[in-house]
Amino acid sequence: MLTAAENEALCRVGPGTPMGKVLRRYWTPAFQAADLPEPDCPPIRVRVLGENFVAFRDSVGRLGFLDELCCHRGASLVLGRVEEGGIRCLYHGWKYAADGTILETPNLETSTFRERVRHGAYPVREVGGLGWVYLGPAGTEPPFPAFSWTEAAPGELAISEMIMDCNWMQVQEGSIDSSHVAILHLDTLATMGAGPRSVGTFDFPGEPWDLDMPTPGAGRAPAAVWPSNDNAPRIEVENTPFGFHYAAIRDVTGEPGKRFVRVTAFAMPYTAFIGGVSTGAVIVVPRDDYTCSSIGVFRVPGGAGGRAASRRALGVDPAVWGPEPENRRIRLPAQDRAAMAAGQSFAGFRGGNRIQDAAVQLSEGLLYDRSKEHLVPADLAIIRMRRLFADSVRLVAAGGAPLGLGEGCDFARIGAASQIIAAGEAWQDLVPANQGVREPARRA
Ligand code: FES
Ligand SMILES: [Fe+2]
Repeated sequence: MLTAAENEALCRVGPGTPMGKVLRRYWTPAFQAADLPEPDCPPIRVRVLGENFVAFRDSVGRLGFLDELCCHRGASLVLGRVEEGGIRCLYHGWKYAADGTILETPNLETSTFRERVRHGAYPVREVGGLGWVYLGPAGTEPPFPAFSWTEAAPGELAISEMIMDCNWMQVQEGSIDSSHVAILHLDTLATMGAGPRSVGTFDFPGEPWDLDMPTPGAGRAPAAVWPSNDNAPRIEVENTPFGFHYAAIRDVTGEPGKRFVRVTAFAMPYTAFIGGVSTGAVIVVPRDDYTCSSIGVFRVPGGAGGRAASRRALGVDPAVWGPEPENRRIRLPAQDRAAMAAGQSFAGFRGGNRIQDAAVQLSEGLLYDRSKEHLVPADLAIIRMRRLFADSVRLVAAGGAPLGLGEGCDFARIGAASQIIAAGEAWQDLVPANQGVREPARRA
């Protein structure tokens, strides 16, 4: 449980807020590079961390990321003309280069003025299909997080973005929450062939119901799909140079002594590498306090990339989650109460894991009040994430750097895992490159 004040500090991200200052100290994936497909294409408005910006691609293909409103008298540069090495405000024609330099002020002949005035402009990089920006103080950029999927060729990368109308922390907590996987996602496991399962005293027959759900790995033997009936995983957490990683440890049904471990790595502050989804990551970025983007980025076989491919890889129905910006806002399908009552479906939501996740995360409201929650040991990874953020708030307030900037870490080798291990084997050995710092499990 957090106090109401701690909850506010954790969740609010605007300029000047404690967490807003922390998040601005990391490279932030703010938009999809494919939304600016070619030189001098129309600019886009980007809302991130509670502020509005304009992103554009100039005549030589360079990205610019500037404050949205013109520094003359505030017209939106999203209306502007992108031409000949810059973006021109429609109102009085002031023109800006990608680095924010004011190139022209047609309603003022002298140049000394424009040489003195600075328009807000921010470092931006195009990596792994995303536009990454740095919104912190000049000169404090941390090492760039070159995750493994950022090295993929464009045709080998699948990106999908889901805009959700709730505070980002609700979605981020879902990414590092192993104990819901074999409960909320029972319909997914059924489609994959996991067979009958129980949740408390409820026995779920486990007949596949959502037959259209794309399910990587479907058709394996039931035990291979999810080899455990244990719904209360033990969570062990370790700090790493990039944040933390944790193992969710479950008994293996019918094999005493063996353990089913799912290792998830959390790279501060946005990115989770989830056990069983090891070719990519799930990134959650706050647009503002009540809106966030959940972005799946995955490596796929050559030529199979693109937005539609990624939606299928993530198990999302294209009918409720479109590829174009105006369609990215999640629209939940109706919950099928009849199928739930008949024991055909557990959750009643078609469309796969991320629809099921979105349903519960949105149901917490626009910004959940964590003073009302009751945490249990299965929530230890969530507690750790909050602690790293709270510690980072203190560090930044004291003039220092936040945690998890990844000093000395090879971001490309951050690993996740989903595997059965024998008695005496250590889960840490599945992900040695994470450089976890071993500590007693109770200290979470
Ligand atoms: S408001 Fe942009 S040039 Fe005047
Ligand atoms: Fe989930």
